[in-house]
Amino acid sequence: MLSKKSTVKVPGDYGRTYAVETFGCQMNIHDSERMAGLLEQTGYVRVEDAIKADVVILNTCSVRERAEDKLFSRLGQISADRRQKPPLMVVTGCLAQQEGTDMFERANQVDVVVGTQAVRRLPELLDRAKTLGSNQIDVNPYEDVSFPLGLAVRTDPVKAYVTIVEGCNDFCAFCVVPYTRGHERMRISSEIVSEVKAAVSSGHREVHLLGQIVNHYQCPVDQECDFAGLLEKLNEVSGLLRIRFASPHPRHVNSRMISAMRDLPTVCGHLHLPIQSGSTSVLRAMRRRHTRENYLDLVERVRAAIPTIDLSTDIIVGFPGETEEDFQETLSLVKQVGYSSMFSFKYSERPATLASRRIPETVSESEKTQRIVELQLVQRQIQLDLNRQSIGTTASVLADSTSRRHDGELSGRTGGNLVVNFPGDPLWVGRLVNVIIRKAGPHSVWGESVTLGEAGQINAN
Ligand code: 5AD
Ligand code: SF4
Repeated sequence: MLSKKSTVKVPGDYGRTYAVETFGCQMNIHDSERMAGLLEQTGYVRVEDAIKADVVILNTCSVRERAEDKLFSRLGQISADRRQKPPLMVVTGCLAQQEGTDMFERANQVDVVVGTQAVRRLPELLDRAKTLGSNQIDVNPYEDVSFPLGLAVRTDPVKAYVTIVEGCNDFCAFCVVPYTRGHERMRISSEIVSEVKAAVSSGHREVHLLGQIVNHYQCPVDQECDFAGLLEKLNEVSGLLRIRFASPHPRHVNSRMISAMRDLPTVCGHLHLPIQSGSTSVLRAMRRRHTRENYLDLVERVRAAIPTIDLSTDIIVGFPGETEEDFQETLSLVKQVGYSSMFSFKYSERPATLASRRIPETVSESEKTQRIVELQLVQRQIQLDLNRQSIGTTASVLADSTSRRHDGELSGRTGGNLVVNFPGDPLWVGRLVNVIIRKAGPHSVWGESVTLGEAGQINAN
């Protein structure tokens, strides 16, 4: 499809270097890895700095308004830096999908718009833009969620993202994702297993399974293979040390999934359970389909089965209609559960969502700020207390990087997802290290290595 605006740049006047900048979630990070693979297959060469690239791809997020603002300021910055020779500008991801052809009007330096489901068409759209000198766009829905094996250019040497579910059918009232990512589609389990095996054979030791509701997974061609079944299959992959996943939905955490998490050695002892609010009436307005009570009941069941599990959550403050009493319920729930980490957000109205169409905002920006500051203070103390309790214990840490700030230090995570810094050899990256914890802060701990596990040793917790 051709937009109205055309012939912005000289046809054919572009080389084959590209830079990609990613905003937003892990799904976007992985989509960027996929786009890199598609481009490199057709002869493009990556450069890290957008200032030097013939083609600049901005892979965008629209989950909150701030993410949207970031894109437009970045576009302005690149245009200013590249006034002499503008690159071919490509906008992909959720904001591309949301804006469609309006993107060309909102930012006239944009040449190509690729929707979330049209990633595979990127090289072709680029070629067309180059040869025709006209804007190109594809924001159509596509059912096919397969992706060529081994093509993604993985940026992390230790952990590999693997998409298992795309899209969402839940339509929580605040959330733009069902509109930007489309309806829920599942990948075939054999394809997922092959991709995980390929990632392990290229040295990756941890996989992060991705999906908007990752634990709603059901293999489209195998009734027996639900999310727990998939975890069982992946647990068999030789050389894989750890399995993580994001993001599960509380209402799809069933007893099969809890048993799989308890029994499979590679599945990490960490469960992200987004609650969004501690008030049942706010949850109802949010259309979350869980209540404070049944969420707390789930937390109890999970902890009864796996006492050492670490829980984390997402919380939105200032959803329309949230009163001070509702917010106090969120605080009391947070204290009761004792999360090991939390992502908290001020409510941000998003186009097309149920809340934006039906529920007027009632909480002022300053009230939202007050609430989020109070919530984060409470959570900070909870984390500090929990992390201090770990002093003196020995944790199995998968070393994932060398420290940028301290020479001779490595960083890694426990199965519970706690960041651990410790002195060590850069050659240990990708291996499990037993670390005795000596010091604790609210966001990470520091320790000393005691023993080094074999590369390929299985010990997720
Ligand atoms: N405003 C604020 N936070 C939001 N999230 C999703 N949509 C919005 C919004 N409109 C948060 C939710 C979700 C996380 C990924 O982002 O907490 O779980
Ligand atoms: Fe958004 Fe709700 Fe779907 Fe999560 S479950 S992606 S919050 S609509």
